[in-house]
Amino acid sequence: MGDLADRMRRHIVGRFYGEVMPEGLRRLFSPTPAYQAALVYEHWCFLQGFPRWVGSIIAGTDKLDVIEYEVDNLYGELIHDPGSKGGHYAIVLSAGVEAGLSSNELTEARPGPKMALALKDWYDIARTRSWIETMAAVHGTEMLADQNLKKVPGYSLPHIMGDEPFLRPSTYSPSGKRFLGTTRADTQHAGRAAELVEKYAPTSEERDNIFKTFVRSMDNMELYFEAIRERYEEFRVRFHESA
Ligand SMILES: [Fe+2]
Repeated sequence: MGDLADRMRRHIVGRFYGEVMPEGLRRLFSPTPAYQAALVYEHWCFLQGFPRWVGSIIAGTDKLDVIEYEVDNLYGELIHDPGSKGGHYAIVLSAGVEAGLSSNELTEARPGPKMALALKDWYDIARTRSWIETMAAVHGTEMLADQNLKKVPGYSLPHIMGDEPFLRPSTYSPSGKRFLGTTRADTQHAGRAAELVEKYAPTSEERDNIFKTFVRSMDNMELYFEAIRERYEEFRVRFHESA
């Protein structure tokens, strides 16, 4: 794996998986029903953007291996994942219902203010940056579930969100577990995307620009976890959970 992918993984570990983790992510590893509901609610809003940003990568490139990768990624996310009956989206919806939300509430979900800011910026990246920068930004978000992060110095947890030994005894509902289990595919997704980005960005100047846009996307991930934390505070009251 090239140096750009390593640099990206080190950035993610330093920012999200060190001794001090963003609360919206930290709680993913000791969930309650209100947390599961908040995670699904905001993530559902994120999922509405994801295929459209991928669409802008496809529209912008003439590299067939990039297009193949993107179509394959979206097929698993949206239509069919080999490890489950439908695509990931259907699993996410039922994880929300099992956590106590109605499916209407989810399909009509409006992102929290922090998520709205993040989404706006991801759309902005997709519309204004090159396909290769967009690729690093969009698939960089999947890198937060990359199993390889555990090998990066400073990674502070015994597991990552897709790990069975973590999920099996956890308090997530059956679909909640399956939803997080599907993030195991993100190890492949993020790794392959980073390889393709490296392949088509041979100069260090290009890589620096790509890394900058990737960091911008990680700023958005910071907002994403803030939005989950804020939604959790709201649902905690609704579900009568103490802190
Ligand atoms: Fe993925």
